[in-house]
Amino acid sequence: MHSSELREFYKKTIKERIELVSAFSDLDNDQINLLKNTGTLNPEIGDKLIENFITAMEIPFGIATNFLINGKEYLIPMAVEEPSVIAACSNAAKIARKSGGFTAMSTNSMMIGQIQITEVPDIMGSIKVIEEQKSQILTLANSVSKTLREMKKGAVDLEIRILPVLKKTIIVHLMVDVGAAMGANVINSMCEITAPYLEELTGGEVVLRILSNLTPGRISKAEAVFKAEDIGGSRVVKRIVKASEMAKYDIFRAVTHNKGIMNGVDAVLIATMNDWRQAEANAHAYASMNGSYTSLSRFSQDENGNIVGKISIPLAIGTVGGTTSNVPKAVIARKILGVTTTEEFQSVVAAVGLAQNFAAVRALSDEGIQKGHMGLHSRNLAIAAGAKGKEIDMVSEILKKEGKISMTRAGEVLAEIRKNPGEHK
Ligand code: MEV
Repeated sequence: MHSSELREFYKKTIKERIELVSAFSDLDNDQINLLKNTGTLNPEIGDKLIENFITAMEIPFGIATNFLINGKEYLIPMAVEEPSVIAACSNAAKIARKSGGFTAMSTNSMMIGQIQITEVPDIMGSIKVIEEQKSQILTLANSVSKTLREMKKGAVDLEIRILPVLKKTIIVHLMVDVGAAMGANVINSMCEITAPYLEELTGGEVVLRILSNLTPGRISKAEAVFKAEDIGGSRVVKRIVKASEMAKYDIFRAVTHNKGIMNGVDAVLIATMNDWRQAEANAHAYASMNGSYTSLSRFSQDENGNIVGKISIPLAIGTVGGTTSNVPKAVIARKILGVTTTEEFQSVVAAVGLAQNFAAVRALSDEGIQKGHMGLHSRNLAIAAGAKGKEIDMVSEILKKEGKISMTRAGEVLAEIRKNPGEHK
């Protein structure tokens, strides 16, 4: 067995790293050649973007169509491995545009930086002194970003948090309007620069100095009407409302409902190379902020018997900074998306989340999702079984017709097709 302790792996060239990994994992020449292919990502850039770089990973990248948001037409770039996501999202947008599309908005970009001060000898005295020194602390925090200062943004306030279970501890929140940035870097710098001063003021010891990924001060909302006649009539409308009620009150359903939202949100964030882990953590924490985990969107019936969908989701997507500009396809994705401000970007993503969510809940409230899912999945299975070119659709069609969507059956069907090609023309 090879050791995984690869000394100074980070100092090796990409070629040397691939050789080491190949030896460890017994890769063959074809596999090594695939790893060497980084597609449109210049390996020199990849090697600067992350440590221990060996290759780039392809994720299918498609376009969701039909989006009309605040009266503007959008094509939505989405990178995702799940087959039904893009078609479902486009379909929901098509239905929504019949009622004027989505209306969407985003609040200011208010984020929180946390400084954990421990071993504070005098909690009440320290709180008083921090409050007295508020403007000095904010000035110090703002010294890290001339751009934010010039935009009259940056650290604007402080909050002091005491959690009784954390003895001798004060948590200072720096409230920062990060403008067009995602905000992580600037906030972390602000926390780090103010920490020594807070130690001096309190006599305590700072441990954590980091942004919070929960952003209740940076919320995006979207809303749309889906006409009853386009979604299966009043029976389906009533069932969608019932499904929405369950997601509101039942954590086990709410998490799946929210996963449906994040299918759309993450796909756009991945295509545009934004931090989707942040979006996930943020969304799920926000969903439980009122003490019990709930759904981020609601569907109700309006006075005309149609469905009104509304979503409220925390999103922190910057339009400046980040690694986007170093990855050619992410640059193209941003261009396709055609957003210029952080507010517009976040609003569009909220609308995509709502569309994705509606598509899933509608299907679940009507025919169920397995029909569509398994139909698309059958193509994946055909490819995995080794089908090439026309064989892929042929295998997939037979699996769907038989209703036996399994890997074993895909292999058998492919073998039959190859044995008797005439029969399957
Ligand atoms: C699957 O990726 C997402 C769904 O489970 C969402 C939902 O149940 O609402 C279909």
